[in-house]
Amino acid sequence: MNMIDIINKTKRAVPLTEQEISWLVSGFTNSNIPDHQMSAWLMAVCLNGLTNEETAALTAAMRDSGNILDLKCIGNITADKHSTGGVGDKTSLIVGPAAAACGIAVPKMSGRGLGHTGGTIDKLESIPGFRTELEFSEFAGIVQKTGFSIISQTSSLCPADKKIYALRNVTGTVDSIPLICASIMSKKLALNADCILLDVKCGSGAFMKTRQDAQKLADLMEKTGKAAGKKCRAVITDMNSPLGNNIGNALEVKEAVEILQGKKKGKLYDISMMLTANMLELAGKGSCEECLAMAENAVSSGSALEILRKTIELQGGDCRICDDTSLLPQPRFSHEIRAPRDVEIRSVNCEEIGMASLLLGAGRASKNDPVDLTAGIVMECELGDKISMDAPLMTLYSSVCSDFSEAAVRAYNALGFRDICGTVFN
Ligand code: URA
Repeated sequence: MNMIDIINKTKRAVPLTEQEISWLVSGFTNSNIPDHQMSAWLMAVCLNGLTNEETAALTAAMRDSGNILDLKCIGNITADKHSTGGVGDKTSLIVGPAAAACGIAVPKMSGRGLGHTGGTIDKLESIPGFRTELEFSEFAGIVQKTGFSIISQTSSLCPADKKIYALRNVTGTVDSIPLICASIMSKKLALNADCILLDVKCGSGAFMKTRQDAQKLADLMEKTGKAAGKKCRAVITDMNSPLGNNIGNALEVKEAVEILQGKKKGKLYDISMMLTANMLELAGKGSCEECLAMAENAVSSGSALEILRKTIELQGGDCRICDDTSLLPQPRFSHEIRAPRDVEIRSVNCEEIGMASLLLGAGRASKNDPVDLTAGIVMECELGDKISMDAPLMTLYSSVCSDFSEAAVRAYNALGFRDICGTVFN
């Protein structure tokens, strides 16, 4: 086989065989295929797409590039959840403990934030002492004890995805539905849980900006998971405004704890309960209604919070944050943005809110940038809210940046207002 023939086939939309895809993935992972040839092939995929069979073969080849976990030692049905990424998405910190409290095992590997989207590992590292890099035996042991653990993706899982994703990031080839599907599903299949719930985010803060694209990605990922023998379901959820009020690592842990304490309801609670119910239903725990009632009871009874507390303790973290969130790292500086007059919130550009948060230090523009775990934004308003002149719209926090001017302009401009008397501005 040779790489030029493979590039030419995809360029002409001629499907590749399973053997060709397997040769391509292992050749690139072993550095026998250079970056420039792989980049050309990735661009051809972006322009022409892949068939479902090619996507399944690419996913399997990427999965097989590293270890595949054997989770049988956990001794319970296992379920994994994946979100395609958004702003303020801390649902894993709520759904994992809630699902575990209902009797299933949730062994989870997560990533770090990049660009405007956050990552669960950064959020967890804001808990003092919390360890996210554990050996498999310790990870599995915690899941056996509490039902729930989250660690960072190990380098032995899907090395092909790590290399391909890094190249996609610098060659304008991230936004391809088959490439996104293969990247996500290869990691899910290597983790190897019995059930996989996929939360495809759709809207201004998501990779998928339109319902049509989100549906295509959801269908393709669900099909790919089922073809690999998993119980797999994809749901589409809204990312046209941040999920919950808090954006930023410690701020998001605080909000997740408040949900598990039963102190807070709203869209974040509703979506978290819906996701938990879907995982339980996939795992055969009952009907949709029964599973929703079980999920809600796990929160209202405090049993989900207890699971989070035990998991934090076993992973070396300060579990007192489950009672007192002021023990999370606190920002040195803050800046409030207030309404210029009586207004109604007409729109929120969620990606821009994520970018403002990144400017404050909460995220990273490139992979190895440090993050300020205290930084972020608390939204004091929601889409459709009527806000009086001078009332707060949002509060910005940071410990590394005391000059809020650039982030404040970006965050303010992310809101679209309607004057209470009718004029649309900003
Ligand atoms: N997340 C991933 O893991 N891969 C992609 O390609 C996009 C989002």
